[in-house]
Amino acid sequence: MLNRMGLENDIKYVLLSEKQIAARVKEMGEQLSREYAGKNPLFVCILRGAVHFFSDLTRCFTDYMEMDFMAISSYDDKMVSHGMVKIKKDLDAPVEGRHVVVVEDIMDSGNTLNNLTRLLGTRNPASIKIVCLLDKPSRRECEITPDYCGFAVPDEFVVGYGLDYAGAYRNLPYIGVLKEEVYKEK
Ligand code: IMP
Ligand code: MG
Repeated sequence: MLNRMGLENDIKYVLLSEKQIAARVKEMGEQLSREYAGKNPLFVCILRGAVHFFSDLTRCFTDYMEMDFMAISSYDDKMVSHGMVKIKKDLDAPVEGRHVVVVEDIMDSGNTLNNLTRLLGTRNPASIKIVCLLDKPSRRECEITPDYCGFAVPDEFVVGYGLDYAGAYRNLPYIGVLKEEVYKEK
C-alpha cells in the first residue's frame, strides 16, 4: 500500500475508485474496438489531463491504431473573440482522411472541445469523435456532448487519474472530490 497521506488528506471523498475506472475504461475500449475495426483510427490525447485515461484506453483497443498528442488552452473570452482555441502543441501529422478520436479527461462547459473539434474539422478528417472519461452535463454552455463518455459526474471539483488542481493530484490513481478548503487556502 503506497503512503500518499499528504495528497489524500486533501480529498473529501473518492468519487470513482481505481477498480471502477478500470472496468469502465475496458468497456469503452471494447466498444471503440468494435466501432473502429479496420479503420486505423488516430487517437489524439489532449495533454495533460487525459494522459492516464489515454494510456489505459488505448491498451484496451484491439485493432491497428495510431497515437498523437495535442496541448491546448482556451483563450480568455475577454481577450479574443469567442470560439478560439490556442494550440500549445499541435499534432505531428495531418489528419486529412483519418478517423480521429479525441480523448479528453472531462467535458465541463464544453467550450474547449467545441472549439477544438471545429478547428480539427477544418483539416478534413474522415470523421471526428470525442471520448471523455468524465462529463459534467449540468455545466454545459454550448451544444455539445461527448460521443463516448465514461461517467457523468456531479458539479464538484474532481482531481486524480490525470485531473489536476493547480498542477497537483494528477498522480492519484482514483478520482476524488477536492476539499473546498484546499482551493480557498491556495
Ligand atoms: P471546458 O471547456 O469548460 O469543457 O473545460 C474542460 C477543461 O476544464 C478540462 O479539460 C479540465 O482541464 C478542466 N476541468 C473542468 N472541470 C474540472 C474538474 O472538476 N477538475 C479538474 N479539471 C477540470
Ligand atoms: Mg484539460
